[in-house]
Amino acid sequence: RKILASELPGAQVIVVSNREPYIHNLKDDGDVELVVPASGLVSALEPITRACAGTWIAYGGGSADRQTVDQNDRMEVPPDRPSYTLRRVWLSEEEQQGYYLGFANEGLWPLCHIAFTRPIFRASDWKAYEAVNRKFADTVVAEARNERPIVLVQDYHFALLPRMIRERLPEAIVITFWHIPWPNSEVFSICPWREQILDGLLGSSIIGFHTQFHCNNFTESVDRFLESRIEREDAAISYGGQTSLVHAYPISIEWPPTQLENLPSVVECRDHIRARFGLDEDVKLCVGVERLDYTKGILDRFEALEELFTHHPEWIGRVVVLQIAAPSRGTLPAYQQLYEDCLQRAEDLNQRFGSEGYKPVLMVAEHHTQEQVYEIYRAADVCLVTSLHDGMNLVAKEFVAARDDEQGVLLLSTFAGAARELLEALIVNPYDATMMSDMLLQAITMSPDEQRRRMASLRDIVRDNNVYRWAGSMLLDAARLRKRGAIDRATA
Ligand code: F6P
Repeated sequence: RKILASELPGAQVIVVSNREPYIHNLKDDGDVELVVPASGLVSALEPITRACAGTWIAYGGGSADRQTVDQNDRMEVPPDRPSYTLRRVWLSEEEQQGYYLGFANEGLWPLCHIAFTRPIFRASDWKAYEAVNRKFADTVVAEARNERPIVLVQDYHFALLPRMIRERLPEAIVITFWHIPWPNSEVFSICPWREQILDGLLGSSIIGFHTQFHCNNFTESVDRFLESRIEREDAAISYGGQTSLVHAYPISIEWPPTQLENLPSVVECRDHIRARFGLDEDVKLCVGVERLDYTKGILDRFEALEELFTHHPEWIGRVVVLQIAAPSRGTLPAYQQLYEDCLQRAEDLNQRFGSEGYKPVLMVAEHHTQEQVYEIYRAADVCLVTSLHDGMNLVAKEFVAARDDEQGVLLLSTFAGAARELLEALIVNPYDATMMSDMLLQAITMSPDEQRRRMASLRDIVRDNNVYRWAGSMLLDAARLRKRGAIDRATA
């Protein structure tokens, strides 16, 4: 907020993402239900957009979304304390199929994650992706109050949008943040539209990734496929008469999280969750919370539990894995298969190791509100973040933020960006079931003193590097660019 006021006076901030921060759905009884989606992107960007009183442009995917907007497709949100404008964009079924499910989620998503799921590239999906990016560019231009807004473009749904905005608003500052990993240039090369994607992104003033490693992969991809000048020391790429900065900005969460405001003490959360799932007091509760996605390593943590029970049978009956999996992209075959595999695997483990009144795996494939999720974090003995690959993973940071009692152990995949920061977590390789089960054992037997020491240090890190710092450093870089532009113009 301070940066916006002092460095970027009067600047209008426009956020663009596919997923909207508030979804309105029509319930069976005719009432409208408000849903905050399970999305790290949304939880990070929402407090920032509130603080900037900006405009957030997103796809209106809820069944009652059209009912809640004005004639300009806008509404003020959050509904209970309006502080910014949500501008919804409508997409047809075909557009959704080609742009979101097809190119973004069957093409780019597996391309960028090491999860060994083959990307699918269809020319028709690409056409839809281009058309929808164009539609969002039109909306950005329509929402811009002047020639020089700051546009925060979010994620792999919009690789072409920065260039499209640049062509129509040459003075805009376009900051694009890629929330998922960027593959090495050899992997990236299989994308039939690799040059167009790079060209589109290089319409940005700044391109951000969570880690330096992904910045390097991106820069290597540009070096290999486009005629450009790369100034590695300045982390700048000059291409087509324009310079883009490529920087690492590790995303984070709000501190303290608003979700904690209405939650009772850890002891009460613990009692409530144990009663809800029928867990005995001495059972160690290990939780996984994510979208049901094949990059999250859900089956791998079930594998680790099996290893633990096989080699340490004394723990049978005393450990439960509660898996909260928000349904996502459920019409895609890869996601349907994962759902079936998870149910099957949970059932197998429950058959093999369960007993009267005891199921070692509780698979709850339902959407939970953010408050419900934070309550589960507060009730857990261990949080399992075993992604096969992840740009950052905000569940790891949310768990830490939820534990003001300084208890609880975080088991964290080395392939999540969060592992670069959260060094006091127990770091695991999700592909190594033996290591995972050893670490799980270490987690459930860790003394309260060691938990406190580790958790206190993790909390310091998340507190200091919160989401305001993430947005602040990008906006500060934007302010420097704008000043430099003003100086260049004055001296030209
Ligand atoms: O950060 C990755 C991401 O794909 C976001 O872009 C998205 O909001 C979130 O995960 C949830 O996925 P989806 O919006 O496809 O349900």
